Amino acid sequence: MRLWQVSNCAACHQLYGLGGYMGPDLTNVHSAKGEAHIRTFVRYGTGRMPAHELSEEELDALVAFLAWVDASGRSRVPDSAVHWTGTFDIPAR
Ligand code: HEC
Repeated sequence: MRLWQVSNCAACHQLYGLGGYMGPDLTNVHSAKGEAHIRTFVRYGTGRMPAHELSEEELDALVAFLAWVDASGRSRVPDSAVHWTGTFDIPAR
């Protein structure tokens, strides 16, 4: 997604476990924390995450992107799903 790349989100955040490690993995942040949480973090930042000057449309697109990523996968496989052979069951959602 273009905004994800130009805003350098991946420098600090992972999706599906891939990306920078300064900030948390965001694969499931949409369902875990909600849309308002995402908007607030991106717009205002925190002590450690920079604020981003994005338009309403750009924020909408980012939230939609993270919702899509969230629906497409899980950031990690729970230990309980791993079989001793090294295979794992895809957990039901
Ligand atoms: C310079 C590194 C950096 C960049 C670039 C960055 N972030 Fe972050 N982000 C962080 C850190 C560090 C935190 C944890 C903040 C804290 O707890 O103070 C965070 C937290 C978040 C959270 C809250 C996660 C949670 O689990 O509560 C969201 C959502 C988020 N970032 C989205 C984004 C998006 C979208 C972008 C790109 C537009 C982005 N970030 C760019 C470092 C970054």
